[in-house]
Amino acid sequence: MTRRESDLAPSGDVAGDDVGLVTPIADDGERRAEVSLRPSSLSSFVGQRELVSHLDIVLRSARARGQVCDHLLFAGPPGLGKTSLAAIVAHEMDAALRVTSGPVLARPGDLVALLSDLRDGEVLFIDEIHRLGRAVEEVLYPAMEDRRLDVMIGRGPSARAIRLDLGAFTLIGATTRTGLVAAPLRDRFGFVGQLDLYDAQELSVIVTRSASLLGVTIVEDAARVIAGRSRGTPRIANRLLRRVRDFAAVREEPVVDGAVAAAALDLFGVDEVGLDKIDRRILGLLCGPFSGQPVGLVTLAHACGEEPATIEDAYEPYLLREGFLVRTPRGRLATERGYRHVGRTPPGGGLV
Ligand SMILES: Nc1ncnc2c1ncn2[C@@H]1O[C@H](COP(=O)(O)OP(=O)(O)O)[C@@H](O)[C@H]1O
Ligand SMILES: [Mg+2]
Repeated sequence: MTRRESDLAPSGDVAGDDVGLVTPIADDGERRAEVSLRPSSLSSFVGQRELVSHLDIVLRSARARGQVCDHLLFAGPPGLGKTSLAAIVAHEMDAALRVTSGPVLARPGDLVALLSDLRDGEVLFIDEIHRLGRAVEEVLYPAMEDRRLDVMIGRGPSARAIRLDLGAFTLIGATTRTGLVAAPLRDRFGFVGQLDLYDAQELSVIVTRSASLLGVTIVEDAARVIAGRSRGTPRIANRLLRRVRDFAAVREEPVVDGAVAAAALDLFGVDEVGLDKIDRRILGLLCGPFSGQPVGLVTLAHACGEEPATIEDAYEPYLLREGFLVRTPRGRLATERGYRHVGRTPPGGGLV
């Protein structure tokens, strides 16, 4: 049920066997490959400056007091570094990290077993914490607040509640959206960090760092090309870097420069702004059959052959940020930029 930090594989932000090149969702193989690219300290974590500076204060103050740090919640789209931050917190607190996820903790007993097994100072990471069932969540409340578990022993008239005291531990939760986390659970975190998409400069630094860890020599403008097509997401930046590396190796390119990187990514269907075929399908639908009409999430997802959650968590944040589509109360609409990107003309007068 839990795993050691060294095989931080099973986060399962919305599972998917067939990981598209630019979906921020990793499959198991990729998660294993990612472990070696994870920053291990707060100082090697690129970007998210405000969040990092606040977290730094929280960690320093806990260390100065010689206490465990407050419970932390990290929220943001997949691939932005939530799991990495959990590992960094454990590392910075010199604590062991236990990893599990909301869907894995199906019954209250699963969580009771896990919590009662924690040793003093340990960090428990629950990925996709918004997917915990209600009954499991209720075990968490007293555990987070008072470090105690109320366990029912026996059944029927002879049943009685016993109280178990827990050691000092830190709970770290991760979620793709804070709005998905029940308010009473959210309120029990001492610190909520929201991760945002990265800018091209930060992604360039991440690509350069990953290239050196992978032993790939790339020229600065190649890092820029990769960064520009990574849709604000380090996980995608690292994945595109690996594809560029493969392409350069097969073509026996002596130098990986911007032109080689661009040729590689064109070949893999990732266009110059980082959109792939699913994005183009989304825009194609909004600008073609549904042109001019707001489209609901479920309709759009079905028409693309994807899960609504995948569209909402993996594709939309970037399309929204880059102004390819907008959300209205009645559904999604392509913007003028969206129409132009798929080579269509926006409906007359009704430009967004
Ligand atoms: N700020 C960062 N600096 C460097 N690499 C990062 C950063 N954030 C994420 N990464 C890289 O992206 C990959 C995915 O990050 P992860 O923490 O698994 O994201 P999440 O848990 O939010 O889906 C990691 O393997 C790591 O290499
Ligand atoms: Mg994760």
